[in-house]
Amino acid sequence: MRIDVLTLFPEMFSPVLGASMLGRAAQKGILEFSVHNIRDYSTSKHKNTDDYPFGGGAGMVMMPQPIFSCLDTIDENAEAYRVVLTPRGETLNVALAQELAQKERLLFLCGHYEGIDERVMGKMHREVSIGDYVLTGGELAAMVVIDCISRFIPGVLGSDESAMDESFSDGLLEYPQYTRPSEFCGEKVPEVLLNGNHAAIARWRREQSLLITLKNRPELLEGVSLTKADRLFLEAVKNGENQGK
Ligand code: ADE
Repeated sequence: MRIDVLTLFPEMFSPVLGASMLGRAAQKGILEFSVHNIRDYSTSKHKNTDDYPFGGGAGMVMMPQPIFSCLDTIDENAEAYRVVLTPRGETLNVALAQELAQKERLLFLCGHYEGIDERVMGKMHREVSIGDYVLTGGELAAMVVIDCISRFIPGVLGSDESAMDESFSDGLLEYPQYTRPSEFCGEKVPEVLLNGNHAAIARWRREQSLLITLKNRPELLEGVSLTKADRLFLEAVKNGENQGK
């Protein structure tokens, strides 16, 4: 997959796109990153990229000219699926990440200042936010979205890693994990994980997922298809009878 990024701060991207899983995917040729400095496309004498808002108000607005020129240069046949990062966008979730992961070519535009000239928005396919808070710019948001979608692109995760058995994959948050030693600083790994009874382990993990979801994100339980055993377990927890330990 080819991924273009349009930003005023290209230097922010190299540490993230060059390291860990993303760096490995780029080395393997699964992901191809191209980061473009919007300022390079400004035709003004001082390479300006922002200007005062019509109608007045605080802050500066990103001008259309440098962004249009950049788009015309790097995506002249409008082949990329274009995403602008903005706090006013739809919120990123697993479904959106999976949808974006299907595209052959993605382009991310990082907003800055008080906003982007609305005429630029007409050139975009999607407006995406990573949460209900305002960052100083769209760069970190773009990196979050790229990292999140990369995990759904075949070959990015190793064969023993999976995007399936994790928080949100079945609508629930992930169960606790342990590794060796089985006792550390006086704390023991739950007995059930040590005895090789796979059905018991699966049940314990499911119950732990239910417990953690109930505690941290109870609203998620509304969207999960619960079995009879799940419902009985949650009833017992709510009645204070069972902590699933
Ligand atoms: N730019 C500033 N804040 C943002 C957010 N929450 N999501 C995406 N882009 C942003």
